[in-house]
Amino acid sequence: MKRLNFEKSTEYRKKSHKLIPGGAHTYSKGDDQFPFLSPAAISHGKGAYIWDLDGNKYLDCSMGLTSVSLGHAYEPVLDRVRKELEKGVNFQRPSYLEVEMAEKFLSLIPCHQMVKFAKNGSAATTAATKLARAYTGRKLIAFPEDHPFYSFDDWFIGKTACNRGVPEEIQNLSVTYKSTDLASLTKLFEKYPGQIACVISEPEKNHPSQFINIDETIRITQKNGALFIQDEMVTGFKTGMPGTIARNKIKPDMATWGKGIANGFSFCALTGTKEVMELGGILKEGEEKVFLISTTHGGETHAMAAAIATIDEFLKHNVIGHMHSLGDYCSKAMQKVVDAKKCTSFVEVVHCNWMPSLIFKNKTGTPDAKLRTLALQEMIQRGVLFQGILLPSFSHKKSDIDFFAQCLGETLDIYLQALEVGVDKFLIGKECKPVFRRMI
Ligand SMILES: Cc1ncc(COP(=O)(O)O)c(C=O)c1O
Repeated sequence: MKRLNFEKSTEYRKKSHKLIPGGAHTYSKGDDQFPFLSPAAISHGKGAYIWDLDGNKYLDCSMGLTSVSLGHAYEPVLDRVRKELEKGVNFQRPSYLEVEMAEKFLSLIPCHQMVKFAKNGSAATTAATKLARAYTGRKLIAFPEDHPFYSFDDWFIGKTACNRGVPEEIQNLSVTYKSTDLASLTKLFEKYPGQIACVISEPEKNHPSQFINIDETIRITQKNGALFIQDEMVTGFKTGMPGTIARNKIKPDMATWGKGIANGFSFCALTGTKEVMELGGILKEGEEKVFLISTTHGGETHAMAAAIATIDEFLKHNVIGHMHSLGDYCSKAMQKVVDAKKCTSFVEVVHCNWMPSLIFKNKTGTPDAKLRTLALQEMIQRGVLFQGILLPSFSHKKSDIDFFAQCLGETLDIYLQALEVGVDKFLIGKECKPVFRRMI
């Protein structure tokens, strides 16, 4: 098979690391997250496809870190954005759109009465923890040790392997438990009585072994006088509309939203009950003020317009229904290929209707970084920009999944050979590395 040409990507890489620490503005988009034979940067996208600097075309599987829920350059969103751009994007006072946006967003979340916008998810999660501290007068923040990411701020990064630059005093203000073992959360409250301000957790993961009893997590948290923050950054506009919160019997005090709610535009939100969120207000004269989220760009008009148009599309077309039926179709297609290639001991299909994925293992059944990288390399060579997950956007079609399955079959032929004669005979360059690691 003729290898793809990455000439321009190679040139780009030479420059990017000289100018940008990490070579990218998101570590999970970095070179160490991809095989050597991969595009260094994307020139443009349309629907479910993207093109790299050398003109190679790929089926996009993670859609802007799962933020592009409708599709790249999706016309109804662009149309709404263009209209706002023509009118100016940032003013001395709020844009008229802020109230319209707040009403629209809150109409999706009946258990919450107030909302604050932000440009990044981290700003929303960090603001939620601050509000919880202010509300409870407690210092500690609790979150699951087995979840990958909640914020780039110190309260979270301080607890990862990559905590250089975060003072120990700050690291000690965060405490962790296991999301699937609620006895560990109860123990945490026993260990730090009256000290935990909040628990922040994603409500659901795509692997069955990571099942979270979210109602019980909320119950334990609130019973112990702490606030519960439901982080719907990934699940929002994917597991349901607006997210897993729609299925909760017990209401979280706050929820955080980002990826996917504005089709890739920078628009995130913190929602919560009036009682908690009001602390960030300015109407109660004589009360101590909480400096919640305040950013120059939080109310940018075109990003709000993108969110409004995205919500409209989701409601008009049953986007969630499309995503779920495609997620099921993809899970089954993945399994069919893995079974046909007799790879079930080495490749695990994570069946999930909102984000199916594959886990690549060695002969002992252990996830293997080199073999995973080889699988990514071979999928990329065939025109699928794959990192393990496939996020079915509204633009993905069954034929795209069929194409994915065909490429997976060819990839697994090579994978099986690598298992026999050694992965180094096939893998070009080094294996992908974890984002959170102590050493470079
Ligand atoms: C669950 C979760 N929370 C928060 C964040 C932070 O969002 P952002 O990258 O927009 O700051 C992420 C980002 O990946 C996330 O996955």
